[in-house]
Amino acid sequence: MTAPADTIKLIRYGLDRFAEIRPTLVALYAEVYADQLSDPFFSVERFEQRLEGYASRPGWEAVVAYDGGEAAGYAFASTLPAGSAWWAGMLEPLPEGYADEDGKRTLALFELMVRQPWRGTGLAHRIHEELLASRPEERVTLLVEPTHPKVKALYESWGYSNVGDQQPFPDAPIYATMVRPLNDS
Ligand SMILES: CC(C)(COP(=O)(O)OP(=O)(O)OC[C@H]1O[C@@H](n2cnc3c(N)ncnc32)[C@H](O)[C@@H]1OP(=O)(O)O)[C@@H](O)C(=O)NCCC(=O)NCCS
Repeated sequence: MTAPADTIKLIRYGLDRFAEIRPTLVALYAEVYADQLSDPFFSVERFEQRLEGYASRPGWEAVVAYDGGEAAGYAFASTLPAGSAWWAGMLEPLPEGYADEDGKRTLALFELMVRQPWRGTGLAHRIHEELLASRPEERVTLLVEPTHPKVKALYESWGYSNVGDQQPFPDAPIYATMVRPLNDS
């Protein structure tokens, strides 16, 4: 299926509308990650725990794409708090000061997913750019599994660079840590 641009609406949700949008975020996760749900880290329950954690942070925002009223994909992100542990799992040290977080510096993009019929249509990029468009942070970071080189290449084509591998939780996969400047920094 192709998604003509004029049938798509991108809606931004802040923390004040988290309860309203939460069921949609969980339902799309369960569909997109259906073949990985038996892995405890990727279970719906663990996703909901992570989602609650992310959405308890200041600056949480989601952008959900609707095609003719049907949710087709989304992304969400929060500002890293001062002293954030985001960089703590890096396998190799980062340059001096690189990991210093003051509560304003870095946006962490926690999830980006698009349902199968809308893959390869450019919708993921549109959601991503809409989410970043009005953010005040200097840079955005996300994690991608190095075993998904095409997704990593996609992010590189969107302006991200890999700054090293990390393991954020003991039972999480090893992820490549991707960073892109925001706001001409
Ligand atoms: C990541 C995503 C939003 C990108 O959407 P998109 O811009 O429409 O791009 P595509 O879906 O066409 O993906 C680009 C390529 O990456 C591959 N790819 C996408 N997700 C993948 C995954 N989870 N594992 C392995 N490869 C994947 C696709 O097969 C495609 O390869 P191709 O060009 O040979 O067909 C979408 O693929 C998605 O929702 N994937 C599942 C969730 C996910 O992995 N999110 C990213 C977490 S970092």
